[in-house]
Amino acid sequence: MGGIDVVHPFLLIAIPALILLHVVVAPYTKVEESFHIQAIHDILSHGIPTHNVTATLKAQYDHFTFPGAVPRTFVGALILSTLSRPFIWVNENVDKQFLARMILGLSNALALLSFASGLRRAFGKSTAVWYLFFQASQFHTMYYASRTLSNMFAFGMSTLALRLILPEPLAPEVSRKRCRAALCLLTIAGIIYRSELALFLGTNTLFLLFKGRVSIIGDIIPSGIAGVLIGLGLTVSVDSFFWQRFPLWPELAAFKFNVIHGQASAWGTHPWYFYFANAIPRLLLNPLTYLVGMPLALVQPSTRPAATYLLIPSLAFVSIFSFQPHKEWRFVIYVIPVLTAVSALGASYIWSHRAKSLIYRILSLAMVASTVASFLCSTFVLLPASSANYPGAHALNTLHGHADNTKPAISVYLGNLACQTGVTRFLQLPSAVDASIGDGVSTAWSYDKTENQDLKLSPSFWDQFDYVIVEPGEGETVLSVSKAQGAHWVDMEVIEGFSGVRFLRPGDAAVGTVERRVLGNFIGPWSVQLWETSRDLVRRTFTRGWWAELRMEPKLKIMQRV
Ligand SMILES: *[C@@H]1O[C@H](CO)[C@@H](O)[C@H](O)[C@H]1NC(C)=O
Repeated sequence: MGGIDVVHPFLLIAIPALILLHVVVAPYTKVEESFHIQAIHDILSHGIPTHNVTATLKAQYDHFTFPGAVPRTFVGALILSTLSRPFIWVNENVDKQFLARMILGLSNALALLSFASGLRRAFGKSTAVWYLFFQASQFHTMYYASRTLSNMFAFGMSTLALRLILPEPLAPEVSRKRCRAALCLLTIAGIIYRSELALFLGTNTLFLLFKGRVSIIGDIIPSGIAGVLIGLGLTVSVDSFFWQRFPLWPELAAFKFNVIHGQASAWGTHPWYFYFANAIPRLLLNPLTYLVGMPLALVQPSTRPAATYLLIPSLAFVSIFSFQPHKEWRFVIYVIPVLTAVSALGASYIWSHRAKSLIYRILSLAMVASTVASFLCSTFVLLPASSANYPGAHALNTLHGHADNTKPAISVYLGNLACQTGVTRFLQLPSAVDASIGDGVSTAWSYDKTENQDLKLSPSFWDQFDYVIVEPGEGETVLSVSKAQGAHWVDMEVIEGFSGVRFLRPGDAAVGTVERRVLGNFIGPWSVQLWETSRDLVRRTFTRGWWAELRMEPKLKIMQRV
């Protein structure tokens, strides 16, 4: 066990450090995150209005211009912007989008570490170490921990709840108190953020009841009532205010829209087994965790009670939830800490028997090697590939850097893809009103996100813009529509985005755009040199010329009206 004591502190730092690394390398956001990130922006830059509320919110806040299909909650944005405030007081110029994401990421990291600490008390240090080892090598959890999705606001709370119901050796009164706190947390998270947690709450409650850890009258009803009062109290008061509709419970509205009216299926459907066959393996990443670790934990008599205790409520949740035809991996991310913990039970068993037989020695090696491989794959392949997925943000930053900023006003059209791949209000530059109070900012920027196709076919529409950021196809439309007006546009820059993997045969030259950009930006030019030299060496001596690299293709065009 001596080795484990040394590894432990590094693994404790690894989870928050990796989550931060993912924010640094991929600081931009996609369309799914946009509601919460725009809400954080609006609260931070406009403040919360206290008088003339409806008109002020309508004039300043993004959600009145782009309300989306269903209202979403402001609770998470309010918490993150409040926690961001002290840092902004210290340094007004801090990157606020980065700051808010970092706070969310670190709070999710703390929840994961708390879960690991519960595992150590319940099942021993070796299980906790394997858990951290597996968790740090999973791509999705590390990448999404800092992303402002409702699921990731709920994830920290559900992970804490799961920690509280771990079978730690505790006095019965303490253990019941923890179960009540867990059920209360899940209720709050379900009411405020994600309605699917009601089902997760249901399977966990029934299981705890069946195990005799809670009683209906003494625990379930009081924690349920407390959760409902806190959850509803928060969401209804906060969201009725921000949406200026009373009474508003956004998750109920979303649940009615998606589940009862079946609208969710419009986003696509998957077969029943999708979560088991596709989503969960993808989330766990390392195949040995579910092909070896989990089955072994279930088969071995010494780990079976712990494994079934962890698995039953989570697998019941996923099985029942699989009847909802619209499926996304993020709807079941809450079970990942538990499934990872079961794999860790198995891995810990293998590890502790490695001296006893050849098969366990081989399996131990395979476990270590596959985890290292997953870690390398998620940090050095999946992360750079994903970071190249935000052409909208890169296009807007490029435009801000290159535009003629001696003009008093610049008007920009942002196409659909740009808005979906990284453009947020945090990246936009101030409009005239704000510029007058800023120092030295002389250009007033304005941005337009019109989606109406008919409007976009009228020549006068494009006349109002100095620049457009559009997909190459739409660029052609802009040219042909404007021609009638006698207006001319020139290409200013082409922005590329990730488009898959390219396999190189012997003799093909490597391009290495993504690698060059990521290494050059985050480590320095010398690392690009080092990378290219070692790549060529490996190709020459080891792979006989074969290689694979990330491929980029033009995604967006910045065009300037002349
Ligand atoms: C209320 O706010 C709107 C938008 O900011 C503004 O146009 C209007 O003049 C305000 N009305 C009053 C009475 O302050």
